[in-house]
Amino acid sequence: MSVIQIEGGHPLNGELVIQGSKNAVLPVMAAAVLHNGITVIENVPRIQDVFCMLGILEHMGCICRLEGNCLTLDTRTLSSCELPSHWAGCMRSSIMLAGPLLGRLGQVKAGFPGGCAIGQRPIDLHLKAFRALGAEVEEDKEGVLASAKRLSGASVSFSCPSVGATENAVMAAVAAEGTTVIEGAAREPEIVELCSFLTKMGAEITGAGTSKIMVRGRRRLHDARFFVCGDRIAAGTYLFSVMACGGRAVIQGVAPDHLTEPLAVMEQMGAEIRREQRLIGISFSGRPKSVSVSTDFYPGFPTDLQSPLMAVAARADGISRIEENIFEERFKTAGELRKMGADIIIEGKRAVVCGCVQLTGGNVKAEDLRGGAALVVAGLGAKGITSVSGCGHIDRGYENICEDLSRLGGVIRRIE
Ligand code: EPZ
Repeated sequence: MSVIQIEGGHPLNGELVIQGSKNAVLPVMAAAVLHNGITVIENVPRIQDVFCMLGILEHMGCICRLEGNCLTLDTRTLSSCELPSHWAGCMRSSIMLAGPLLGRLGQVKAGFPGGCAIGQRPIDLHLKAFRALGAEVEEDKEGVLASAKRLSGASVSFSCPSVGATENAVMAAVAAEGTTVIEGAAREPEIVELCSFLTKMGAEITGAGTSKIMVRGRRRLHDARFFVCGDRIAAGTYLFSVMACGGRAVIQGVAPDHLTEPLAVMEQMGAEIRREQRLIGISFSGRPKSVSVSTDFYPGFPTDLQSPLMAVAARADGISRIEENIFEERFKTAGELRKMGADIIIEGKRAVVCGCVQLTGGNVKAEDLRGGAALVVAGLGAKGITSVSGCGHIDRGYENICEDLSRLGGVIRRIE
């Protein structure tokens, strides 16, 4: 098992190009299954979740070739509609294959998805969309079986703007006869990316990025090439890293309007932010100011940056209040930050963070992807050495966290 070791107290200075977006590339890879042909996806981050998705696609008969950050997917030999539990359980995004398989093969048998243990993470809205489009859906303790001779366009409305359920509904609707209208859709940039990719393949979709998406199904799809946008959550993690230890950095390849709320919070905490079309600059010194933040669906403050924010608030000058409204078990990192001297009280979905002047390095354990990244953020600003174990969680979503932060002047290395 490897450990990431950080020597705190070194400011971060310089520039880096952010990796491709994990939460955009995974649904795009799944959507490629809708087309019986070849797609080329560029700017693919070489992360564990991508390798897992590749394993699943190859298991189902697709031919996948990842060269550097360029992926060629040939789905003409797709032969299976089954997602065995050991594959489905390796990440949440395995469920993203359900819609495309249902649309392409008329059936999908999937184990329940895995992913970060940050809450219940039900899939009821995904199944609601499939049923609305005419599929028969059975569930048992193993997983889900959905089948449909022909999907038909329908009205789908979500009680909660689920990212994954919106993505599955759009992908199934692309294969459905007729028009589908999705109300209460998620508005995240990753939805826009998926719809851009589907449109490039020939689909007809309007309203992506709004809460009402319309899909005219059964358009003839064709080969396509697509460049995945930069990872806004990885970029936000690195921006919070500068706030943990000071410095001046530029993150290229990310759109500031994908991080509107987090950048506003960083400015409230004392950062100077520069916004250009495809880059974000940050300059920070001293102690962060305390802040009150509630996570929300896009364009609100993203739940995925809640833990990195907490790591910075742990050394803020004052008391910060963080409310987690998306996932009911996403405060695990607080326990690990306390081992570094953080003063954090959890009351249900609220965390009260009494900032201290500086955290102290220690041995901590990543319990999930973004919580693990938050411990790295905390280590960058802590006194002494921090060792983060369980960094397999971090490798699921960050392509080169050690190299990236080293390039900016961080003293960080992986010890096998
Ligand atoms: C996506 O997960 C992201 N993952 C998550 O990022 C992100 O935190 C989340 O969206 C919210 O932005 C990927 O895109 C691969 P949801 P997803 O469905 O789709 C409830 C990371 O760290 N819900 O939008 O699983 C659910 O319980 C990961 O990169 C239902 O009730 O999230 C939650 O409370 C972590 N029924 C809320 O919706 C459903 O059928 C939002 O979940 C589906 C979801």
